[in-house]
Amino acid sequence: MKVDLNQARAALLNGEVVGIPTETVYGLGGWIESAQGIQKIFSTKERPFFDPLIVHVDTIKKAQELTTQWTKIHEVLAQACWPGPLTLIAKKAPHIDSYITSGLDSVGIRIPNHPLTLQLLSVISGGVAAPSANKFKKTSPTSFEHVEDEFSGEVKVLDGGPSDIGIESTVAGVEDGKVLIYRPGFYTAGKLKEILSQHGLNVEVGYAESPVAPGQLKHHYMPKIPLIIISPEMQWEEIQTKIELQFNKKFTNPALWIQPTNPLSASRELYQSMRSFVDLGHDIILCVRNKEFHEEDWKGIWNRLDKAKTLGLI
Ligand code: TXA
Ligand code: MG
Repeated sequence: MKVDLNQARAALLNGEVVGIPTETVYGLGGWIESAQGIQKIFSTKERPFFDPLIVHVDTIKKAQELTTQWTKIHEVLAQACWPGPLTLIAKKAPHIDSYITSGLDSVGIRIPNHPLTLQLLSVISGGVAAPSANKFKKTSPTSFEHVEDEFSGEVKVLDGGPSDIGIESTVAGVEDGKVLIYRPGFYTAGKLKEILSQHGLNVEVGYAESPVAPGQLKHHYMPKIPLIIISPEMQWEEIQTKIELQFNKKFTNPALWIQPTNPLSASRELYQSMRSFVDLGHDIILCVRNKEFHEEDWKGIWNRLDKAKTLGLI
């Protein structure tokens, strides 16, 4: 249900969860100083406790207060990319509820780039922990309506319009003086490296599976109907029988998602398209593996699609 800023603040301080708009996807927020609010995030999402949450703040000063090890690398990236779609992992301060970090000694932090949420965060001490506002493993929401749908109107939500970026933030940590990206997104390794070197830091930036956060599950972001990846030359008529045999089910209304040629438009449309195919009554989504899929700018999008798919390239 739609709430205004004052109602959202009051609810958070009262230990309730609130859907908050961000430039990436909508978050399901809980106040970090309320144990009840944090618990409610997990119960509302049906999320297992081993998947750590990202803490949202509105200033770098508040971010620093959440950690005991804010390095020069953190500072440079925060100054250059925040508010924006980058989550930085840093050693956690002792006062942070270990449910937020799944018992890890590090915490994920970001300043989201959305005026309404920045305003909300500015009138709340500490910060707001918020995973994407969807049921565990399901497609992330990129509009107020998606969050309403996801929780059947039972969760309070701030309506901030459609999310601009459309996929979750890049998650990056610092290990042994190197930057490692655990979840690809808008900020690529190339871009982070460039930012760091512009500030005189010659640092390696690479991609890695997080050794500590098994939040990076194999299946995630899944729409309510099967999603399969096909190569550009494939026709539905040619593969239909094979797919139906595999699923042991007939499909009568396939949807074809052809990505926009620009990765920014593709990420903005990704989750919105997946949800609207379901709403339009399609029973399977075919997604064409574009030829640029291995390029860095597409990495975030294909990371999500590869986890959302029911079947790989056939
Ligand atoms: O764009 C976003 O990041 C959105 C919006 C709402 O800000 N949030 C989001 O949260 O995507 P969520 O819960 O869906 O993803 C959080 C992920 C975890 O699954 C994990 O991969 C990573 O962030 N993460 C969080 N804390 C971490 C930590 N201490 N170490 C390593 N990875 C961490
Ligand atoms: Mg999520």
